[in-house]
Amino acid sequence: MSRQANPVPASPSPAPQPVRIGIFDSGVGGLSVLQAVRARLPHAELLYAADTAFAPYGERTEEFLCDRSERIARFLREQGAQMIVVACNTATAAAVARLRATWPALPVVGVEPGVKPAVALSAAHRVGVLATTRTLASEKFRRLAEAHAGGAQLLLQPCPGLADAIETADDTAIDVLVQRYCAPLRDAGVDVAVLGCTHYVFARALFERALPGVQLVDTAEAIARQTARFADELVARGEADADAARPSVLRAWSSGSPHVLASFAQRWLDAQVDVRDMRC
Ligand code: DGL
Repeated sequence: MSRQANPVPASPSPAPQPVRIGIFDSGVGGLSVLQAVRARLPHAELLYAADTAFAPYGERTEEFLCDRSERIARFLREQGAQMIVVACNTATAAAVARLRATWPALPVVGVEPGVKPAVALSAAHRVGVLATTRTLASEKFRRLAEAHAGGAQLLLQPCPGLADAIETADDTAIDVLVQRYCAPLRDAGVDVAVLGCTHYVFARALFERALPGVQLVDTAEAIARQTARFADELVARGEADADAARPSVLRAWSSGSPHVLASFAQRWLDAQVDVRDMRC
């Protein structure tokens, strides 16, 4: 007598998985990049990490930034991130090569000051670059400027204290510092200025007032496009689904006060945010 095998119950097909993208910065600045990525990739799940306990990054050493970037990238991968966006010019300059060497198969997108588009826009051939001290002093920035300045004069303006003032939403300090750092650029007659730190995007209106008639360049859109290209590749390889629904709540972590990140995100993003402690 042959034994009848129990029919195997049809297993439900697994729920489609959204592309998971880990994004980090020293603090709230990277939310300006997250905003652009969110708009371009409505189906991706974004995971955001703010290293608030160690901000600002602009005055840190390269070794320190490599170590923090590696820890945060590892943390985001543990939360399921399939790619990493370093939404910080300072950390990119110091650590993007290290991250790519540590995880050769992991797509890593970095942020650099938009020197190339700014030079292309400048009729005066005079471009201001506002960024952190560490970014402007980096070898990566030196190479970027050498490759793309062409015949234009670049006026480099470090902005110590500004990212910190934006982080703490100290409106008076932000105003004073923006005026102070824009004055030399205005006097030099630049017609284009690069916002070379992701925090500065949140003070755009003040930069516009301090630099009347000057075009401001930031790279959030370009980063979103590059991120979308990597996301498409993950979908093409079957590692994520393009039409999965993303969770309605944005998951975020902070190594400092979760409240600072939550209230900033609520003010600037049209999103519900769940901020947890990040220990790494
Ligand atoms: N938002 C960062 C950047 O783009 C760094 C700000 C800081 O922590 O100094 O460079």
